[in-house]
Order: sequence, then C-alpha cells, then structure tokens
Amino acid sequence: MKIIITKDQTEGGKKAFEIFADGIKHGAKTLGLATGSTPITLYENMIASDLDCSALTSINLDEYVGLSFDNPQSYHYFMQKHLFDKKPFKHSYVPNGMADDIQAEVDRYNKLIAENPIDIQLLGIGRNGHIAFNEPGTSFDSLTHEVKLTQNTIEANSRFFDSIDEVPKSAICMGIKNIMASKKIVLMAFGEQKADAIKKMMEGPITEEVPASILQKHPDVTVICDQAAASKLS
Ligand code: F6R
Repeated sequence: MKIIITKDQTEGGKKAFEIFADGIKHGAKTLGLATGSTPITLYENMIASDLDCSALTSINLDEYVGLSFDNPQSYHYFMQKHLFDKKPFKHSYVPNGMADDIQAEVDRYNKLIAENPIDIQLLGIGRNGHIAFNEPGTSFDSLTHEVKLTQNTIEANSRFFDSIDEVPKSAICMGIKNIMASKKIVLMAFGEQKADAIKKMMEGPITEEVPASILQKHPDVTVICDQAAASKLS
C-alpha cells in the first residue's frame, strides 16, 4: 500500500483529486464513490475543476434501506448535493433502498458492478476498520448484500436523525469482494479517531475482524491521510 500523508483534509482532497483526474485522463470510465464526511474535499475539488464527468459512470458503495431519495439522510441525497447536481455523470448508480424486493435490488447491483468494472474505488474507513457498511466479521468473499446495522452504528448515526427510532435498521452495501475487484483503490482518512483503524489496516494481521485489512492484498491501493490519522503507524 502506498501512503500519502497530508497536512489536513483540504490538502488530502487535492491529492485525491489529482489521482482521480490522472486516472480519468488515462482512460478510467467507472468510479466507485463513497459518502460520509471524508470524501467531501475531493468532491469540492472535482466541482471546482473543469474535469468532464459527462461520459463517466459512478457506482456508490451503499444506501440505507427505507429512506427515499429526497430524504436528506439518504446517500442518494448526499451524492446529489455534494457532487452530481454540480458535476453530472453519464450514469450514477446508488443502491435503491426503497426497492420492494431488496434481494432483487442486491442482484441488480452485483450485475451492474460486473458489467461496469470499477476503475478507481474511493473508500473511507470506520473507526472499527469497516469499509462501506462491511462491519467486523463480514466475509472477505461477500458481494453486495443487505446488512443489518449494528447497535453501535445505529447509535453513531442517530446524531443525524431526529430520534434514534428513525435510523434505518439495515442498508444495501457493496461486498468486500466487489471492492477488491476494483482496479485501483484510494482510501482517505482524517483525524485522530481514525488512527487505530489505519494502523490495523496497514500493519495488523489480515483478518475479517478488521475488514479494511484485506486491502493489504490489493495490488494498487493509495492511502491518503493526515498526520493525526497516520500518528500510530510505526
Ligand atoms: C460511506 C461508507 C462508510 C464511510 C465510513 C467513514 O459510503 O461506506 O464506510 O466511509 O463510515 O465515514 P466518515 O467519512 O463520515 O468518517
């Protein structure tokens, strides 16, 4: 794994943008995208640039089950607001958490990923080493699936909702095998609260207890983090 340590998230967003822009210049057609606080500076750089995304496809990692597209907590809404409204793609896929048949939606998403191999996959990382909603214990062989959210995740996410009862109980999430099939991976992490996860991901044993540790086996991963997130690396 290659690591780029930046001063802060702003500089990290610029570095990530350079990698994406270079990849697109060299033929990347399908981008795997993420939500959360981490990728926002990358998306700001994309919007501010003259990068043309109108011929590209994007495939997002995950979406809550049961939140409509116009719910401000849905990942559809997040992506529209932070990227697609200002930088449209040819096709932008986010799992449909409102599908009547969630298993059919899961199958559709796996087919979509198989038909549009991801050239560059963007990832954030959870404090417990999760990638997407793949929590500790998820099989490294997993494909897109419905995930029951852990009580910890429900509590952590409740800050975004009026009450904890409104937090969805499950999500549709790309599996670890889908993520590992991407040609190139860029993982961003900022802040001291990510330092343990970054250390375990890069220096710890490869174990399903730390989902991101599987990235040690991927041939092309760039980690972009600030000094705080890198502070526990030896
Ligand atoms: C987002 C996602 C999550 C986040 C992770 C970090 O689509 O799949 O795995 O990347 O929880 O979240 P932030 O960036 O908010 O710290």
